[in-house]
Amino acid sequence: MKYSESHILVIFGASGDLTKRKLIPALYELHTQNLLPEKFAVLGVSRTELSDLEFREKMKEFLPNLPQNQKDIDEFLIHLYYQPLSTADATEFPVLKTRLESLCLSWSIPENYIFYLSTPPNLYQIIPQSLAEVGLNDSSAGFKRLIIEKPFGYDLKSAKELNKNLLNYFKEDQLYRIDHYLGKETVQNMLVTRFSNGIFEPVWNRNFVHHVEITSAETLGVEDRGGYYDHSGAMRDMVQNHLMQLVGLVAMEPPVVIEADAIRNETLKVFQSLRPISESEVEKHVIRGQYTQSHIGNELIKGYREEHGVDPSSRTETFLAMKFYIDNFRWAGVPFYIRTGKKLPARVTEVVIHFKNTPHHLFGTTSDSDQSNSQLVLRIQPDEGILLKIGMKIPGAGFRVQTVNMDFHYNELSDVYLPSAYGRLLLDCMQGDATLYSRGDAVEKAWEFVQPILDAWQNNPNIPIYSYPAGTWGPEVVDQLMEDSVWRFPCKNLAHDGEYCEL
Ligand code: BG6
Repeated sequence: MKYSESHILVIFGASGDLTKRKLIPALYELHTQNLLPEKFAVLGVSRTELSDLEFREKMKEFLPNLPQNQKDIDEFLIHLYYQPLSTADATEFPVLKTRLESLCLSWSIPENYIFYLSTPPNLYQIIPQSLAEVGLNDSSAGFKRLIIEKPFGYDLKSAKELNKNLLNYFKEDQLYRIDHYLGKETVQNMLVTRFSNGIFEPVWNRNFVHHVEITSAETLGVEDRGGYYDHSGAMRDMVQNHLMQLVGLVAMEPPVVIEADAIRNETLKVFQSLRPISESEVEKHVIRGQYTQSHIGNELIKGYREEHGVDPSSRTETFLAMKFYIDNFRWAGVPFYIRTGKKLPARVTEVVIHFKNTPHHLFGTTSDSDQSNSQLVLRIQPDEGILLKIGMKIPGAGFRVQTVNMDFHYNELSDVYLPSAYGRLLLDCMQGDATLYSRGDAVEKAWEFVQPILDAWQNNPNIPIYSYPAGTWGPEVVDQLMEDSVWRFPCKNLAHDGEYCEL
């Protein structure tokens, strides 16, 4: 089993949202599972003036504060420290170095450091450079790893610049580009489903698959992130990273071994095989939408343009659906459809393999005709699990066929600990395992694919941005993307899929 060496985790942007909502709770979770090294410290760094004690108090609010957890929480909090620092100012980094050396001494930790950039992306240039200037990139006396949060660039050009800049100061094997979707158990399970079962792999190709449908739907809107989101939109926020990673895993060839480079090489090959969508084809292949005000029940839901921080005449997409092809032996001619959006009716992420129909219809159509193909639903969240939809005989006279569900739900493994995505990824980095982190070349390839679409939207204001009322499945025109099938309407419950939706 892999283990984590003693180290200090430095979080830049420690007063930000991600630190308190995701990172500190994930570290606490690792602590309660005894997965942190005994000699371990977290140093929060940001501009706000705080003492170690004040930082601990602030972080405590985001831990599961139940009476039975008090001992664990107290034991965990003593690992947290804080250093006020103007991270944009390289001249302050010697202070950081001295603080780290003193923490190493008091905890008897060798100079093993993980630096987590949970800051606005404009600091991704300066922080690695400033670390390097004081020698904090030098692995000779202990490992130095750098975790970077998305966005990895704003477009292809800036993504390339970012990679180039990072590589000026750190080596690729010191870089951990985090995509929290890869930390989800169910996303990793796609590899296991595909490559550990003799029954799926033989049919996972153009001979048997009719099309692949990937949905990542959210009920939430942009909440308090309007300012960020309005400059990002669904393509940059969800597609270029999370959804492309799902495409990579569902479409890749079997890696030779389960190791970082073997898996990342296969993902890269998928991205290299994506058929480019040229600017002139964008309107035919990509539909973008934006939610407008609506009533859900008795509640009046704001439209996107009324959200705080959003330009009242914004043309940023909060919904996107697209169709594309992967031009390789396995997938030639198989359409891939992806769809993501905010303020949709359900929070659901799933990958659905729609298998081809039998070559000859012996039994006529199924009772629910548009679902007639067999489908394998890989449910990422919620109600995590797997469901196979197949035709069964309706008891009684004749041969009438009905689609039935065979399902497995993760919650049936109640005694198994399911780590959070951030917990899993942080642990991997502590153990030096980059398998579930994105590599620079794949990030650039994914940008290469989406860039012409962003350019088309930028250069051609006549490409429509369709409105959809908040709480619906996006603009109706998305139906036109599907060739000879229909989009699914997934519910949050995977159990009884197609029968009823749990509210
Ligand atoms: C983030 C996006 O990366 O992923 C958010 O910035 C989005 O806009 C979130 O809401 C979705 O993640 P999850 O894990 O809730 O599906």
